[in-house]
Amino acid sequence: MSYEKPGLASKHFDDLFNSLPSLEGKTIIITGTTSGTGFVAANACGKLGAKLLLLNRPSARADAALKTLQENNSNGDFTHIDCDLQSFASVKKAAEEVRAMCPNGLDVLCNNAGVMALEDYATEDGFDVQMQTNHLSHFLLTKLTFDLLEKAADTKGEARVINHSSIARKQVKELEADYLLKNGGNLGGNGASMFFGGARWIRYGQTKLANATFTACLHDKLTAKNSKVKALVAHPGLAETELQSTTVDEGGMGKWMTKQLMKMGQSREDGALGILTCIAHPNVQSGQFFGPGMGGMFTALKGPAAGYPLEASYDNPQTRDLLWRHSCAAIDADFDI
Ligand SMILES: NC(=O)c1ccc[n+]([C@@H]2O[C@H](COP(=O)([O-])OP(=O)(O)OC[C@H]3O[C@@H](n4cnc5c(N)ncnc54)[C@H](OP(=O)(O)O)[C@@H]3O)[C@@H](O)[C@H]2O)c1
Repeated sequence: MSYEKPGLASKHFDDLFNSLPSLEGKTIIITGTTSGTGFVAANACGKLGAKLLLLNRPSARADAALKTLQENNSNGDFTHIDCDLQSFASVKKAAEEVRAMCPNGLDVLCNNAGVMALEDYATEDGFDVQMQTNHLSHFLLTKLTFDLLEKAADTKGEARVINHSSIARKQVKELEADYLLKNGGNLGGNGASMFFGGARWIRYGQTKLANATFTACLHDKLTAKNSKVKALVAHPGLAETELQSTTVDEGGMGKWMTKQLMKMGQSREDGALGILTCIAHPNVQSGQFFGPGMGGMFTALKGPAAGYPLEASYDNPQTRDLLWRHSCAAIDADFDI
């Protein structure tokens, strides 16, 4: 068994869910729906009538989650598509399947999946496992489905790309190119100290800063083009999902410490408020950041998700240029908007 979860009750989820409109006629991709915020968002969107494409790596967890979503939503429309974010080849194959299933366009792409504080190792493509899973593969997926989002935006008036960041974006001072290069396995080792510069946590912080920076890049480019596609980003505060269990199992956090920390958090349902708002709320603007506050550790851990502006620490020409250039180089392709 991993750490013992405190079992936090949901406080705000129903208020948001009950305020959302029908999503009938919308096609929504969510990555990472086997548990956590992705599962909650998929379940909610299914109840609201959307067609869901669930991009997960194949596993018994993925099968079980799909079954539960189908049981929870007898009229739901859920399709699993194999997509391992540790592999660009897998992402490309998933994008082909998406394209075949979305001839009329794609309304929402929610780049939710993530891993945290894993050991220092490279993917088959040579990148840091955390950076490729959390950002680079989502960058590729967004590029490969972008024309579908534009199609929906042109015909229906809007489409949305959502990235899932974290308070951990503030654990690092600035985005650094090294973490976006083929340096997997050579990025500082396996130091596991969350608060005192453990390398696992620095790498995680870089990925979550990349998620926010990617949103800033998209928003900047979409605004310049007068596009009807919206770029949004969310963070869940500290949410009781499987993320901490996996991290404990992988040696990134101690059991006792994790249990104490999680007492300050919120339920996985409340953790999904940010992405669910971005996916489904009618009144969101491109370039908004939804979450329970914008402070660092201990000040934005829980509560209803409100909308904030992007932050100057990454929404600046230099950081946007660094992210875009190195992400295009990593996927070995231009991403023209
Ligand atoms: N929970 C928090 O307190 C917290 C705080 C800040 C940010 N976040 C962010 O929230 C997002 C969702 O995480 P969560 O908290 O809901 O954690 P979770 O319960 O562990 O869910 C993570 C999801 O990502 C999937 N995933 C991991 N590696 C993958 C891969 N290689 N290919 C495809 N899918 C993969 C997992 O699927 P498998 O079953 O295949 O592993 C799972 O479905 C992440 O981006 C995370 O960084 C969470």
